[in-house]
Amino acid sequence: MRVRRRDTGSAPAVRLDAVRKVYGKGSAAVAALDGITLSIDVGTFTAVMGPSGSGKSTFLHCAAGLDRPTSGSVVLAGHDLAGLNETALTRLRRERIGFVFQAFNLLPTLTVEQNITLPLKFAGKRADRRLIADVIARVGLTDRARHRPHELSGGQQQRVAIARALAIRPDVLFADEPTGALDTRTATEVLGLLRESVDRDGQSIVMVTHDPIAASYADRVVFLADGRIADELAAPGADAIADRMTHLGTWDESARIHRTPAPFREPR
Ligand SMILES: Nc1ncnc2c1ncn2[C@@H]1O[C@H](COP(=O)(O)OP(=O)(O)O)[C@@H](O)[C@H]1O
Ligand SMILES: [Mg+2]
Repeated sequence: MRVRRRDTGSAPAVRLDAVRKVYGKGSAAVAALDGITLSIDVGTFTAVMGPSGSGKSTFLHCAAGLDRPTSGSVVLAGHDLAGLNETALTRLRRERIGFVFQAFNLLPTLTVEQNITLPLKFAGKRADRRLIADVIARVGLTDRARHRPHELSGGQQQRVAIARALAIRPDVLFADEPTGALDTRTATEVLGLLRESVDRDGQSIVMVTHDPIAASYADRVVFLADGRIADELAAPGADAIADRMTHLGTWDESARIHRTPAPFREPR
């Protein structure tokens, strides 16, 4: 099998610099991200963890160009997102970025194969039949290619969503709780598939999860708390991750008791 490693020199797949994202205005303002600086290497699998409300989804949306930060910079697939207008940003997302969410978001009237081919059409790329067949084979759904989503299990549907994201050969695949709606066995299947795409094809993956077992598939686990990076671990096991989470929780509580709220400045 061909190894596709996007060797763009030492340029990271994604880089965030002092990223802040503030929702709301005045006294209702919430800094969902409060100064995130992070560089994600090409061909690596990064998990982002943190308690509910810590900013995981906001991080993913800003890093993937689905949303723009209030301040700070995001460089994605070699582009500084601040320099792109909406049209160019949409194009970058369609052509270079893959997305997988907890909800599979498959089109019910289309077959597995048609669902997987759709983003290629949007990206204006030709759907090479061999390439599509290869992607379908990799997610183990060759005998389901002509089926519709409702005829598949949850795990199979998520594998279709992953195949759909991989079909455009994205520079980065972003996943927000991709196993959140799956049972343990099918979650294992989906995580194995993501891991394989990193090991075999040099895919870059950023995955948000609250599950230590899911995060243990990653090369690196970044912990968020209150919109900041609280810690990170290199290739940890699930036990080490769970242990760190417990400590973060404790840290969170004591911080809440002792901390006086920082004065908030209106974003310009
Ligand atoms: N669209 C929004 N409008 C206002 N506040 C938001 C919005 N999205 C997220 N937030 C707030 O930002 C913080 C971080 O949210 P989020 O990124 O969804 O965290 P997580 O994914 O870790 O649960 C939370 O306090 C949340 O209430
Ligand atoms: Mg979330």
